Amino acid sequence: MPFKYNFRRRRVTFAKTLQLLKQRNSKLLVETGTSRNGLNATKSDGAATIVFGKWAQQNGAKLHSVDISEASVNGSQTEINNQGLSNAVTIHLSDSITFLKNFKDPIDFLYLDSYDYSKTDKDIQIKSQEHHLKEFKVIEDKLHKNSIVLIDDCKLPGGGKGKTVVEYMLKKDWKILINAYQILLVKKDSLV
Ligand SMILES: C[S@@+](CC[C@H](N)C(=O)[O-])C[C@H]1O[C@@H](n2cnc3c(N)ncnc32)[C@H](O)[C@@H]1O
Repeated sequence: MPFKYNFRRRRVTFAKTLQLLKQRNSKLLVETGTSRNGLNATKSDGAATIVFGKWAQQNGAKLHSVDISEASVNGSQTEINNQGLSNAVTIHLSDSITFLKNFKDPIDFLYLDSYDYSKTDKDIQIKSQEHHLKEFKVIEDKLHKNSIVLIDDCKLPGGGKGKTVVEYMLKKDWKILINAYQILLVKKDSLV
């Protein structure tokens, strides 16, 4: 990505994830919560659908991005079309839990970034954390020894989107590779 797109607090974790995707020859990427504002939101939302969609296109992989909001799906699809990425990226209009429950194939990369978090509202914080945990639980049997998981909006008051799901993952067979604004995890016994 040209430097004019400033990924700020996500730059380090995006870069490491892209390196790992290449190293592990990842082919199937899944994102919850799509890039509703396209590349206009590299600093705020992160524009991950475009970042990982571009990588998918350049590396013969596929990205599935799911979102419950029609406006978000339309915004994301517009940017995907503008960037010429529609052969590599499919955007689905659905609740993420329903979508993941019905997902049949093994997943190489899972990006959790749906239910919007709040820096101040504790009720929203807990709902967002529980939602991301639920997403992980319904899809964890589709993850394998070389799968990569990235969770957005973590270093925030109340622990961010990843608090509950990361606690759960650490009790299972996952380890943290980078603990920053985003948390990047791989399986404990996988080589990095
Ligand atoms: C922060 S944005 C996603 C940003 C995107 N990942 C990016 O990097 O640009 C969060 C999105 O999650 C969606 N969302 C909220 N609850 C959801 C749910 N239950 N299932 C699927 N998407 C949901 C919202 O509609 C919103 O578009």
